[in-house]
Amino acid sequence: MPLPTTPTNDFLLGLPKAELHLHVEGTLEPDLKLRLARRNGVDIGQQSVEDVQATYQFTDLASFLAVYYPAMQVLVTEQDFYDLADAYLAKAATQGVKRAEIFFDPQAHTTRGISFATVISGYSRAAYEAAERHGIDAELIMCFLRDHTPESAHATLEEALPHKHRILGVGLDSDERGNPPALFAKTFATARENGLKLTMHCDIDQHNSIEHIRQVIEDIAVDRIDHGTNIVEDPALVKMVRDQSLGLTCCPLSNSFVSDDMKANEIINLLREGVKVTLNSDDPAYFGGYIGDNYQAFAQASGATTAEMVQIARNSFDVSWVSAERRADYHAMIDSYVQEFSA
Ligand code: ADE
Ligand code: ZN
Repeated sequence: MPLPTTPTNDFLLGLPKAELHLHVEGTLEPDLKLRLARRNGVDIGQQSVEDVQATYQFTDLASFLAVYYPAMQVLVTEQDFYDLADAYLAKAATQGVKRAEIFFDPQAHTTRGISFATVISGYSRAAYEAAERHGIDAELIMCFLRDHTPESAHATLEEALPHKHRILGVGLDSDERGNPPALFAKTFATARENGLKLTMHCDIDQHNSIEHIRQVIEDIAVDRIDHGTNIVEDPALVKMVRDQSLGLTCCPLSNSFVSDDMKANEIINLLREGVKVTLNSDDPAYFGGYIGDNYQAFAQASGATTAEMVQIARNSFDVSWVSAERRADYHAMIDSYVQEFSA
């Protein structure tokens, strides 16, 4: 029996996929936040899940970040960082994730007195155990906060280099307005010299978005772009991204919180033009869904066919930073999943 042209929610949830745009601090669910606050004796001024959710009022990236960073004060010990990452990996496993390349923001913790070693130890222990505990190959991508200085980013990289065997790549996140990629060129060049992969956020509908995307491609020479769907405004950028097979890590549910919509039309059109778009969850505890939920919401909004959704899952492994051998294993997993579902 052939697969239906329109994908079912069950099919999309179980479809093997890689998550490539996921901020682990953005997976802090209200119940875990309350539990960690109690465990560490931190007064967050909220007593119930409803209290926490009532603070989730945002209309753009800046207003989201103003809620996001203060929540992190409940993360204190190595075990807290482990528990946060492990809870995400357990959830991701239920939504078809086989490979996760996970962002973390060390400066959001070191600037409030938590040591870099505490942060990286907790996260990397959870990543290391993920294959056995959850059937996921997990790796870490260390992001610099672009609304802190380039000097702070560079100092963070230097602090991280003794731990570089625990880090797959580096990224750039936080508030993009007035903080262009080129400011961080030296730090990203040093990361590259140290064998790390490079990615940067080009958030949705930002001021100077097209120039920022040009910088990440031409000046920084990134290996992937986070979001980046504003390339639709410039055919030359679409061509560059397609010709270089640069992956775009799109996040539909997140888009609908920080901009006017999910950008489903832009994403499906880019897919149909041969761009390696992928779907991801960004900050799922804040944006109402994990990766499978993003696949489902996007399929519904865009009218993508089953074959197109399978292509998106394939793209996620194509642009993930795995060996060619491992990539072939993941493609085979998709093939058998599709075959089983058709039977
Ligand atoms: N940090 C966490 N989520 C982010 C996003 N969507 N954009 C930029 N920085 C972030
Ligand atoms: Zn992001």
